[in-house]
Amino acid sequence: MTKKRVGVLISGRGSNLQALIDACKAPDYPARIVVVVSNVPSAQGLLRAEASLIPALVIDHRDFASREAFDAALDAALTEAGVELLCNAGFMRLHSEGFVERWRDRHLNIHPSLLPAFKGLHAHARVLAEGVKITGTTVHFVRPEMDSGPIVAQAAVPVLPGDTADSLAARVLIAEHRLYPHALGLVASRAVRVEGELVVGMTQIKDQAPYFSPPLDEPL
Ligand code: GRF
Repeated sequence: MTKKRVGVLISGRGSNLQALIDACKAPDYPARIVVVVSNVPSAQGLLRAEASLIPALVIDHRDFASREAFDAALDAALTEAGVELLCNAGFMRLHSEGFVERWRDRHLNIHPSLLPAFKGLHAHARVLAEGVKITGTTVHFVRPEMDSGPIVAQAAVPVLPGDTADSLAARVLIAEHRLYPHALGLVASRAVRVEGELVVGMTQIKDQAPYFSPPLDEPL
């Protein structure tokens, strides 16, 4: 099997990067990470890449006069590394339209809500403020508008009484770490593809029962 060459963009902790690194260790996983780029020099994720002997670069956005100039440097580094698929994993910069177009349908992002609800920052606090009962996480193809684009995969996560933004973030993060490798695997293996502005292809839904929160007294 030829594994797709993946680049990962990070800005911080890199726990989703770690989940992708761990998934790529499986011999039958259809992707491997060839470069990690951070726009933040102190990002913890850089250490995770180095610990796994993955080339890790810092391209600090503060060194560039414009978003376009930063993105050009990013694009050059990814091209140099032979990246075929790009994954944003906690990358906290908006891309220029030119960059998004260049990587169109080869570029994924993970967001900690059930998109298109709760785009942007502080999703968990806003979920709690709205009294939402079920939230989750989404992996989608990147489009110019923040946190929008064809949805590859989602995981639903219950909001529990007494949740804080931190406790909810921790519960959603567990799902993120399962979802991102799953979604990247589907894209890298070409089990799914973009058609129009929707992702089509293989679905593996086995349990079609609706999910209730608060739960029903009796299961359906
Ligand atoms: C995750 O919650 C991700 O969904 C969001 O930013 C966070 C990054 O966490 N885009 P980490 O750096 O992967 O630990």
